[in-house]
Amino acid sequence: MKALVLSPGVRPAGHSLPRYVVPIANKPVLEYAVENLRDVGITEIGIVVGEGGREISELFGDGAHLGVSLTYLRQDAALGLAHCVRIARPFLGDDDFVLYLGDNVLAEGIGQIADEFARLRPSAQVLVDKVADPSRYGVAEVDENSRVTRLVEHPREPRSDLAMIGVYFFTPAIHPAVDAIEPSWRGEFEITDALQWLVTNERDVRARIYSGFWKDTGEVEDVLECNRELLMGLRTDIQGVVDAESRLIGEVVVEEGARVVRSCIVGPAIIGAGTLVEESIVGPYTSIGADCRITESGVADSIVLNEASVHNVSGIETSLIGRRARVGSARQHRLVVGDGAHVDVAA
Ligand code: G1P
Repeated sequence: MKALVLSPGVRPAGHSLPRYVVPIANKPVLEYAVENLRDVGITEIGIVVGEGGREISELFGDGAHLGVSLTYLRQDAALGLAHCVRIARPFLGDDDFVLYLGDNVLAEGIGQIADEFARLRPSAQVLVDKVADPSRYGVAEVDENSRVTRLVEHPREPRSDLAMIGVYFFTPAIHPAVDAIEPSWRGEFEITDALQWLVTNERDVRARIYSGFWKDTGEVEDVLECNRELLMGLRTDIQGVVDAESRLIGEVVVEEGARVVRSCIVGPAIIGAGTLVEESIVGPYTSIGADCRITESGVADSIVLNEASVHNVSGIETSLIGRRARVGSARQHRLVVGDGAHVDVAA
């Protein structure tokens, strides 16, 4: 059994964050996918990369340090998930495989569905969950025997509240399906349409409800919610230096080379390697990356990426601060804000 992980860079426009670099609880989101696959014994993994591919291969290399073997496959235009399967055909051969959207985080792993797929071996098996707004997802209609009877991508009027989570188990029966479909209204070869092709051709497609926490980290709010959830599993580990005038409350990680000076860290929170926190209050639910400077400031419920600095700003909450960004204070609001960014300033 192999796996095909789609890096967030191959997802279509509308996802404006450089999501392949956004760490959650100081770990790149793709790493959670690779770990879940490895934990069910899948070590031959193809990663489909688009924009940001070089950065991803620099980060993960051949995968040996994670106990897997990674093969990089390039998709030049974001033509959809089924198109990724087509590109990957030489890598996949005639093996069964898992298609895993690398921006989906499944906190409790994929062990149960892997067991069920191995036991029943349907043509395809999808994971679903009841959601409040199914029109944001591919939606499955499922009968009382867990058989999928119909699937629709982003339906305007959903006939079911079961959204498809971005983890799919396939036999090679999916290949003629991805070859048969046409692009959808959004110009993509949809994996949902390929699954529907299987259903129409009377192949066995099954659904299983995922009982754990999962999130498609497409929006900033989702990334922050995931960060909160994953930080809840944090255990205190102090490798850096915390001075006598600082206080640590709850579960706090201070990585190597980090310094906490005259500050209070409220867990769960991570202070990345080489970062300085001085005269500040950080946390709870906050991940500060490596080599940052947080001085005379307050940051809670946020993610700060590597090499960013925050100086003399209190009350930063539910924020995502990018790599090498500088946040400071002035009497006026002076903003240098990137394309499509989102800024809320206290009234
Ligand atoms: C994609 C799939 C959709 C699935 C979702 C899960 O949607 O097309 O069927 O429910 O991922 O994250 P997209 O993120 O491309 O809108």
